[in-house]
Amino acid sequence: MTFRLTHLRLVLLAVATVTAIASAPAQRSGVQPPQLLPASVFGPDLFRFYCASCHGIDGRGGGPVVPALKHRIPDLTMMASREDGVFPKARVTAIVVGDKAPAIPAHGSREMPVWGPIFRALDSDSARNKARIENLVAYVESLQVRGAAKW
Ligand code: HEC
Repeated sequence: MTFRLTHLRLVLLAVATVTAIASAPAQRSGVQPPQLLPASVFGPDLFRFYCASCHGIDGRGGGPVVPALKHRIPDLTMMASREDGVFPKARVTAIVVGDKAPAIPAHGSREMPVWGPIFRALDSDSARNKARIENLVAYVESLQVRGAAKW
């Protein structure tokens, strides 16, 4: 628990630092506080904000943070084709939320932040957080390479 909370604080600090730097001019003019939660709950906007730094905007794993990671970043566009063309929606949801049993052991390293507690910490509206997770998962599904997939 302590580890999780420490980890959550670190992640929020990292997001806050990046957004503070990005919004520095606005800060100086006193217009806006640093943004931790984009106004939009659309999947593509959330993915760009929370995921693209590691996974790349196209989900293939070319984000700018990748050289700092210890583990190989998976190609999110190949998840369906690796499972015989069926997108593993429940597993992806569990991985993204991060508080369901299969998510952690299956991904050993857990270099990826767990988003369930982060969204809960940033917004107490559970319906909006549910929509955020569903929209992110739907967006990852939309990135799937069709190739040999059975659609
Ligand atoms: C700090 C870098 C980082 C960020 C930010 C990040 N991820 Fe990840 N992600 C990883 C890494 C690394 C893995 C591989 C497993 C591990 O090491 O934890 C992974 C694994 C995954 C997987 C499993 C892929 C597979 O093939 O099994 C999914 C799905 C995923 N991430 C989705 C997301 C989504 C959606 C977001 C944004 C809400 C996100 N990730 C943000 C680093 C990140």
